Amino acid sequence: MRFQYFFVVASLSQYAFAADPGLPMDNPTISFWQLPPNPDLADLQSKTLPRDVDVVIIGSGITGTGVARWLLRDGSQERPLRIAMVEARQSCSGATGRNAGHIRPLPWDYVVDKPIIGAADAAKIARLKARHYSEYAKAAKEDLDADGRDAAEVRAMDSIDAWFTDDAFNEVVQKLEVVKQELPDIGKEWTIISGDEAREKTLMPGVVGIAVQSVKSGGAMWPYRFVTNMQAALLKKYPSFSLDTHTPVLNITSNTSGGQSRFDVETSRGIIRTRHVVHAAGAWAPHLLRNLEKQITQARWHMGATAAGDRIPDAGHWPAVSGNSSQPGGREFGLWRDYYSTLTQLPKSGLFIVGGGVAGEGEEVPPWDDHTPVEPVIASYLNGMMPTFFGYDNWGAERPATPPQEHVYPGRTKALWTGVDAISWDSYPLVGALPTNVTGREAKDGAEWICGVYSGDGMPSAWMAAKGLSTAILSAERNEANQTWPEWFPNAWIVSAERLSKPCVNSTDPSLGNLCQ
Ligand SMILES: Cc1cc2nc3c(=O)[nH]c(=O)nc-3n(C[C@H](O)[C@H](O)[C@H](O)COP(=O)(O)OP(=O)(O)OC[C@H]3O[C@@H](n4cnc5c(N)ncnc54)[C@H](O)[C@@H]3O)c2cc1C
Ligand SMILES: *[C@@H]1O[C@H](CO)[C@@H](O)[C@H](O)[C@H]1NC(C)=O
Ligand SMILES: *[C@@H]1O[C@H](CO)[C@@H](O)[C@H](O)[C@H]1NC(C)=O
Ligand SMILES: *[C@@H]1O[C@H](CO)[C@@H](O)[C@H](O)[C@H]1NC(C)=O
Ligand SMILES: *[C@@H]1O[C@H](CO)[C@@H](O)[C@H](O)[C@H]1NC(C)=O
Ligand SMILES: *[C@@H]1O[C@H](CO)[C@@H](O)[C@H](O)[C@H]1NC(C)=O
Ligand SMILES: *[C@@H]1O[C@H](CO)[C@@H](O)[C@H](O)[C@H]1NC(C)=O
Repeated sequence: MRFQYFFVVASLSQYAFAADPGLPMDNPTISFWQLPPNPDLADLQSKTLPRDVDVVIIGSGITGTGVARWLLRDGSQERPLRIAMVEARQSCSGATGRNAGHIRPLPWDYVVDKPIIGAADAAKIARLKARHYSEYAKAAKEDLDADGRDAAEVRAMDSIDAWFTDDAFNEVVQKLEVVKQELPDIGKEWTIISGDEAREKTLMPGVVGIAVQSVKSGGAMWPYRFVTNMQAALLKKYPSFSLDTHTPVLNITSNTSGGQSRFDVETSRGIIRTRHVVHAAGAWAPHLLRNLEKQITQARWHMGATAAGDRIPDAGHWPAVSGNSSQPGGREFGLWRDYYSTLTQLPKSGLFIVGGGVAGEGEEVPPWDDHTPVEPVIASYLNGMMPTFFGYDNWGAERPATPPQEHVYPGRTKALWTGVDAISWDSYPLVGALPTNVTGREAKDGAEWICGVYSGDGMPSAWMAAKGLSTAILSAERNEANQTWPEWFPNAWIVSAERLSKPCVNSTDPSLGNLCQ
């Protein structure tokens, strides 16, 4: 089964597609990544809200920040675009500030994608995703100062996917064989290990087999700090860029006064007049794009930060899996047991960021709610699952309590939080210019654009999705009749009136059943 459908099926089981998620809720659960909040960025507001700009970006997560970065970097340096980023809550308080921190492309989706979108486009997706770790590392090197780079922790890791039944493992091995045959540049970065050797490498007694990707594509970061430090760097370099937090967008309207055809973006703090609007609002995008309620749905997911047992190796001290020694950046897992669970080891503290349990199960709250405290059954899973993966002998004793810190518990569990992810009805991200019959608004001097909705797989998608979108926006700025997309950009990700008119897409993956209900 494809990774994304853990989310899709879970959210469909309780909430049908087609609902208005509203604005992001006040006082969301506090994610460990946000401790402490970035003192300069978290609550930043301009002295006066910009009144007239070229581009308004709605949302300050990895997508909005990527779009701003690429537009400013690749656009005119003499007359940089005037870009106003607006955010409903604190900076980077959506999915990006709450996720697992993985940058882990899973190229066997190529085999699922091929019959749906064709081999060439499926290959573009696999290659685009595989590029992400090195592109993030490059961006950190080029844009962040030494402190920002240190904080962002963009790093290569021992990245392992592990299976616990022969059937599930063999299915992936077969798919990876196809990848090795048809996309050798990507396939050669993957090593398959089974049996005792896999158990020795993982320290997990129940493992049947593992797939390991090389440090070329397998990495991780501290997403909140990468994003907020990137915003700080852009604000410093480009006076034409602004960030206004606690400034939700309430409505967008067309305005043709003064012979100009522009958008009025109505926020809680006033109206911003603009030529372009970029919807980088993640799971909340349908609130301002009500015709897309059927195409974008939400999944609430739980995460935790926990101490490892005292026999669990520190970063850099695991059995080597990729290359000759274990990575100093630590180890990360995708664990395919009953649920898909994740583990990312932090390089400095050794803490585990853990995720898993089924979204929607036992929950009484809607899937766009990241404010209500964690669900007890899922919290129990996060509190207790890791020793069951490693076995109690490999796990060892609990580590000593940590010193008091606000919002951090002293025992094994340091923090628990929830996040809301955006899921698309056909599983592909939504990137490109929105047709005016979808938005119901038109401004001849610009357009409304969307970027996001990665269906669970955002970190290896967002940065290059943002690069693709900014290329298209810059080509529209040059008045090119047709938008130009980079030749590496997958067609399946680009929005069109035709794609958005389909209420539902039946997958050809037989394991998925009928998602059109
Ligand atoms: C718990 C969890 C775990 C995850 N784990 C992983 C993982 O391990 N690997 C991976 O690749 N991906 C993972 N993801 C997915 C990944 O985090 C997302 O795909 C990605 O962060 C989306 O980024 P974004 O910028 O598009 O959206 P977001 O980060 O959600 O940003 C959207 C922003 O828009 C703001 N906003 C919304 N509406 C408005 C409005 N009307 N006005 C102003 N602002 C508004 C929101 O407040 C938010 O800050 C996970 C997601 C979650 C929730
Ligand atoms: C947005 O503005 C339009 C035009 O003024 C209006 O019809 C609509 O009701 C507004 N929507 C909201 C959510 O305020
Ligand atoms: C259109 O914009 C002008 C100039 O900013 C403003 O005065 C006017 O109120 C706006 N019209 C509407 C209908 O909002
Ligand atoms: C591992 O060590 C061998 C022998 O020293 C060397 O040839 C090889 O290049 C090393 N591989 C990596 C990935 O460092
Ligand atoms: C734009 O694209 C269409 C369809 O691909 C093509 O027919 C047309 O010639 C293109 N126009 C320009 C100016 O490139
Ligand atoms: C928009 O127009 C396209 C045809 O160009 C049509 O297929 C689609 O249904 C329309 N969408 C809406 C929301 O009206
Ligand atoms: C999807 O497929 C099922 C059977 O597999 C069928 O009953 C249903 O009508 C299809 N839905 C659409 C929208 O194609």
